[in-house]
Amino acid sequence: METGLKSQPILVTGATGGIGAATVRLLVNEGADVIAAGRNQERLSEIRAETGCRTLTFDLTSEDDVKSALNDITLYGVVNCGGWGGEIATPMETDMSVFDKVIDVNARGTLLVTKYASDAMIAGGKGGAIVNVSSQASLVGLAGHISYASSKGAVDAMTRVSALELGKHNIRVNAVNPTVVMTPMSEWYWGRDDIGGPLLEAMPLHRWATEEDCAAPIVFLLSDAAAMISGVCLPIDGGFTAV
Ligand SMILES: NC(=O)c1ccc[n+]([C@@H]2O[C@H](COP(=O)([O-])OP(=O)(O)OC[C@H]3O[C@@H](n4cnc5c(N)ncnc54)[C@H](OP(=O)(O)O)[C@@H]3O)[C@@H](O)[C@H]2O)c1
Repeated sequence: METGLKSQPILVTGATGGIGAATVRLLVNEGADVIAAGRNQERLSEIRAETGCRTLTFDLTSEDDVKSALNDITLYGVVNCGGWGGEIATPMETDMSVFDKVIDVNARGTLLVTKYASDAMIAGGKGGAIVNVSSQASLVGLAGHISYASSKGAVDAMTRVSALELGKHNIRVNAVNPTVVMTPMSEWYWGRDDIGGPLLEAMPLHRWATEEDCAAPIVFLLSDAAAMISGVCLPIDGGFTAV
């Protein structure tokens, strides 16, 4: 299958994390010119040494940071993977400062990167693709996920509206909605038998997703193989949201 990604400049935020780093590795294997972004310099250096990718440092919560990092950049693709899990809380007990921060990183951060990256992609005149990393938490009600689910629901809505607005520039915008991947973001909670057990039991495939399970559909949606797909939110959930 021809991906059309060879030598294409592709920005991956959250590249210092589990799913982001797996996506960087797969894109580099496909010959893409990957720009790995995050805040942690040590992890960025490690992924650069491992894969030969370029790196960029910015904070998703700062418009000045995002704007200056993406100023004058040439881009064909973007993976909005940076994110934060926040807290496990009900609507009655939630800490509004945590809600604000989750929205800031996950929703506002995705929009900020989309805003400045799509400017660059439109200016390049070659079309392209954006993939937002959402969550199954936006598709079904999960206990304790009031803030996180709200932020990812916003990401899904941004995906659809951005697909509508950017289509005329031949830029496709899609989301993936993974189930639990045992990265540090999720392990402390979903790793508990009393919490993770019932979810695994209900899921047709009865296993957690791996980072690679997420990276492959992300790369597919970036690629020419998905040339007619835009505005979808694709569950990577072992069938959990289908039953
Ligand atoms: N793990 C799961 O179970 C799961 C399931 C569904 C969806 N997701 C989503 O998948 C994405 C990646 O998750 P992961 O599990 O790979 O998480 P992770 O290993 O905790 O990585 C999180 C990434 O987000 C970056 N980040 C966080 N806050 C940032 C900020 N203010 N500015 C810039 N970068 C920031 C981190 O960069 P630095 O450390 O360098 O700041 C890191 O690269 C997230 O959007 C998450 O919501 C995860």
